[in-house]
Amino acid sequence: MTSSRQPGFYRLSIRERRRFAARALGITESELEAALEAGGLQDSVADKAVENVLGTYALPFALGLNVRVNDQDFLVPMVVEEPSVVAAASHAAKIIRAGGGFRAEADASLMIGQVQLDDVPDAARAEAALLGAEQEILEIANRVMPGLVRRGGGAQGLQVRDLKDGMLVVHLIIDCRDAMGANLVNTASEATSVRIAELAGGSVGLRIQSNLCDRRLTRVSAVIPSTALSMPDRDGTKVRDMIIAASRFAERDPYRAATHNKGMMNGIDAVAIATGNDWRSVEAGVHAYAARDGAYGPLCVWSEGPNGELVGALELPLALGIVGGSSRVHAGARLGLQITGVESSQDLAMIAASVGMASNLSALRALSTEGIQRGHMALHARSVAVEAGAEDGEVDSVAEAIRDRGDFSVEAARDALREKRESEWPTDARNAPSEG
Ligand code: MEV
Repeated sequence: MTSSRQPGFYRLSIRERRRFAARALGITESELEAALEAGGLQDSVADKAVENVLGTYALPFALGLNVRVNDQDFLVPMVVEEPSVVAAASHAAKIIRAGGGFRAEADASLMIGQVQLDDVPDAARAEAALLGAEQEILEIANRVMPGLVRRGGGAQGLQVRDLKDGMLVVHLIIDCRDAMGANLVNTASEATSVRIAELAGGSVGLRIQSNLCDRRLTRVSAVIPSTALSMPDRDGTKVRDMIIAASRFAERDPYRAATHNKGMMNGIDAVAIATGNDWRSVEAGVHAYAARDGAYGPLCVWSEGPNGELVGALELPLALGIVGGSSRVHAGARLGLQITGVESSQDLAMIAASVGMASNLSALRALSTEGIQRGHMALHARSVAVEAGAEDGEVDSVAEAIRDRGDFSVEAARDALREKRESEWPTDARNAPSEG
């Protein structure tokens, strides 16, 4: 198992990072490069994946570092366009490591298929009839997903909810094992709906999974000694208190909670995308869960532990698959899964949720102390340098120049680039008459 602690990794070239990753995975560099070629998705494959394809659209594929979950190190694939997300998560994971890393657990992969019924004349009688026929309904469901049943999953139970005025909804509870589960659940919901409507005496409405998969929760905790939080100009206990105050702010205010959760999702979505998962369904589930009590709240909260530590607690629904979905056709997603080394969807959920906690901690630490912009802009400087036309060997020094000047505009980067190039021209070339 390769250590996820790789000091100085950010200073390596892409080539050197690939060499490291290939070695960690036990594959050749050319195999790794082949998986990432064309962003992991050739046009011909993309053309079969969705409709009206013109081409593909690339995003950076990076490694999150320092992640240790339940005493095991993981290299974490992250696909994200926003500067500083990977660095921030890796940095916070290093801080959390000082307290032993993340502790995490994930429920079985129980998804909910909803069968909506309308015009049900008597809700109580319908409910009794449906629950009386539970085994029969589960068998109908399991007949259409024999592969899942062979893998130890399948329909496990029924729940009936009266939505009033003749509308009833039946929840089919299905263990999807290592799949995200949407196709399985939708197939089973459609297959059982006719019998369900017959038993209830109503008409069939929608038959579709619910993204509020609140039976498939992942929980993460972390205990961080306050000394690990200290900053050059701030004592760790002060930083701890400010992070706790920031958490309270989110607990009291949905406007803040939305942004708080967005920061957490920076990490979770990046892992979901890198492993070929449907991040929209993850987002839908997470935000619905955040509002489950009627008021929208934060899903990762921070408090003080008995020995003055900072204690983090995260709980959210997370339907991530490691089989099926786009991992079947997307070489980049397959590489992402291979990098995690996970063997179950629970393991993947625990890693993604841990990275979510790290992202949240990092944001709160920065926001409650020096503010987010200094670090963010420092990393953003490199994109600005590229936008200004800097080539490979010029990007870092142009970025440094605009960082030093504290001006992150493209104009400032152009000036810095021009000055750099002029200073590097041979003196006689600088003095030569211009051709134009
Ligand atoms: C930006 O992508 C995420 C933050 O806004 C999160 C937060 O405010 O907690 C910095």
